[in-house]
Amino acid sequence: MAKEINKYVKWVGKTDWELKKFHGDEYNTINGSSYNSYLIQDEKIVLIDTAWKPFDEEFVENLKKEIDLDKIDYIIANHGEVDHSGSLPRLMQEIPNTPIYCTANAVKSIKGQYHRDWNFITVKTGDTLNIGKHNLTFIEAPMLHWPDTMFTYMDGENILFSNDAFGQHMASESLFVDEVNRSSLYEEALKYYANIVAPFSMMVKNKINEILKLGLPISMICPSHGLIWRKNPEEIIDQYYKWADNYSENQITILYDTMWNDTRKMAEAIARGISEEDKEIDIKVINTAKSDKTENVAEVFKSKAIIVGSPTVNNGYLYSIAGTLELIKGLKLKNKKAASFGSYGWSGEAVKLINEELTKSGFSLINDGLRCMWTPTDENIKECINFGREIARNCK
Ligand SMILES: [Fe+2]
Ligand SMILES: [Fe+2]
Repeated sequence: MAKEINKYVKWVGKTDWELKKFHGDEYNTINGSSYNSYLIQDEKIVLIDTAWKPFDEEFVENLKKEIDLDKIDYIIANHGEVDHSGSLPRLMQEIPNTPIYCTANAVKSIKGQYHRDWNFITVKTGDTLNIGKHNLTFIEAPMLHWPDTMFTYMDGENILFSNDAFGQHMASESLFVDEVNRSSLYEEALKYYANIVAPFSMMVKNKINEILKLGLPISMICPSHGLIWRKNPEEIIDQYYKWADNYSENQITILYDTMWNDTRKMAEAIARGISEEDKEIDIKVINTAKSDKTENVAEVFKSKAIIVGSPTVNNGYLYSIAGTLELIKGLKLKNKKAASFGSYGWSGEAVKLINEELTKSGFSLINDGLRCMWTPTDENIKECINFGREIARNCK
């Protein structure tokens, strides 16, 4: 069902309460999500983005209740990824000649996925489209988070349609950020940044600077997922600027997996050592085999240092640690420290291999890591505590 944003703009997207996995199995959306599509009714009628393919029929049927589809003058595709373009094939069956405004890269991504040659109009940064009382201005935003991404700015109402930027995977009956629980909203916005936007932090800073230089007043930010920033949209812009700038909080996160609890005992003793040395620091102790990988990535993003532990198995480390290291590598985080640990019975390569992965991922190693042969003795536990203390001192 459509929802009114202001006199000219309606939300015509789809709230997906059921969504629990996004990007295949890469992102756990425990709070669901939404695919936001916006209908602008000025002298010309404009549709910005659509909804994910499984909802194409629903999307088009709901849209018909709002507008005679033949009256849509322009479609704007800010981004070609299937969660926003997925209903285009169904929609274009109804209005096959309607122009689709998008970047040159979006023509490639949309054609590459749907193999259709619709009436694409290619736009670049600064191009404008008059729709009556308002002008729309296009701002290319390559790699935020695909090469094809752009933002659309509506003057007069001062709305930035930012597509994936500034979004959150959060289903809600509310449309606006100021109508929901702020701490859950903040957590979802951070998780979204850490998991999806963080690899492109450099572009985030540059793009924000570019938009600020354009001097466009922004009263509202309408992203393509989650809730709309209506009051103080500067709040999320400032937050993105902080997150993009080698962000960390006063936190150390221990991520481990364990076979017979020996590496777990090490993890807990390391945590004790850290807290003995530094009472102020937040310590998270996470078994990666029993926790939500998307939340784990957010904890890594918030940390000034991570300590990764695995026993050695088959000359390597455990499966959940391998997945975690791979996720972390993709984030291209900078300015963070790391160390590793693990128990072993004979060959004991895990620590060395984890160190190699952490180095490749851009972390600076605090030390060579800590290994414990078989089950930790009281003496080994003391070593773990000292290892934690050393890390805490190094992070002060
Ligand atoms: Fe996307
Ligand atoms: Fe998206």
